[in-house]
Amino acid sequence: MNMDQVVEEFEWFADWANGVTPLYERLARQTARENSLLEIAAEAPSSQPAPNLLFGAVHALLLAGVDHPLVEFYPTCTDDAVDPTTRDPFPAFREFCLSHEDRIREIVGSRRVQTNEVGRSAVLFPAFKSAVDRGAATPIALVEIGTSAGLNLYWDRFRYEYEGYAACGDPESPVTIETTVRGDGVPPRWDRPPEIARRVGIDVNPLDVTDPADARWLRALVIPDQAQRFERLDDAIELVADDPPQLVAGDALEVLPDVLSEIPDRFDVFVFSTLVLYQLDDHEIETLRDLLIKQSQRRTVHWFSNDPSREETPPTYRYVSFADGQRTRRLAKYKAHGEWIRWLADSST
Ligand SMILES: C[S@@+](CC[C@H](N)C(=O)[O-])C[C@H]1O[C@@H](n2cnc3c(N)ncnc32)[C@H](O)[C@@H]1O
Repeated sequence: MNMDQVVEEFEWFADWANGVTPLYERLARQTARENSLLEIAAEAPSSQPAPNLLFGAVHALLLAGVDHPLVEFYPTCTDDAVDPTTRDPFPAFREFCLSHEDRIREIVGSRRVQTNEVGRSAVLFPAFKSAVDRGAATPIALVEIGTSAGLNLYWDRFRYEYEGYAACGDPESPVTIETTVRGDGVPPRWDRPPEIARRVGIDVNPLDVTDPADARWLRALVIPDQAQRFERLDDAIELVADDPPQLVAGDALEVLPDVLSEIPDRFDVFVFSTLVLYQLDDHEIETLRDLLIKQSQRRTVHWFSNDPSREETPPTYRYVSFADGQRTRRLAKYKAHGEWIRWLADSST
């Protein structure tokens, strides 16, 4: 990646981090002016955001137990973290990066930003209920595109607290998703989701939660000052590691036909994704749609996805059912980590 692009990315990241993560805001702002660190970050492939990879690499090493004074600033690594607004974390960060340069370069050059956010199940849980209410046959088969580690393939195993409504989902689950509900729409909920006949995740680079390095990378991608999100992810990793999904490595457009052909015709298939389509161009999305239409000649195919928008607006979740023609409904808008949801179902697009 060229240096101008790296500087710009750190400046952009620092602006974004303002009000979200005081630690990364300070680190990004000063890294943007520090050539020795920018050169390490430039190891990132041009398709990947360099700041997320550099911060993820450092966080991963700290989580792996590398001992260094920098650890004092990471609430994910110590119970009594120093407030980065009262003491500057950058000198320790710089020293850490330079003294572990080879390992950091290796991670930045080989890993991808694949944050797997279970908060997004806040929109999946009512989405599946809505589709089943409208006649989808159960049990259902799940195929997630851009699955990362497949955590959201387990949306039926989480407990949900939609603000203003009784808790729902699995009351015994170690993972609780708390979400504010905006607007008048009521997200459909169920206590006992249907049996899931298959859980298959497709990713160009799937992460395996039973592999300690992959699990650590998932954890390292979480912003260290978001301790609650970090704990929720830990719980989800543990839950999924007990019963891992089938993961298929490859470009979804290439491997999807084979994946679908291995699922018996008696199951309705739900192909879904969250925060993935924005990484595909228009032609690829059309190809995906054509592929699903073709598949629906054998059986009903349901398709949930975020709008492919690259805009910074809240993602809109959509449902298309390919069976008797096509029907598109917007389901919901939601904040990217599931902090709130605005249920829109029945407003056609
Ligand atoms: C931003 S992450 C989102 C992960 C997960 N869906 C979530 O919401 O937590 C996007 C994921 O999509 C994967 N991806 C991007 N393009 C893909 C493609 N054409 N086929 C399969 N996976 C893809 C990336 O490797 C990455 O793991």
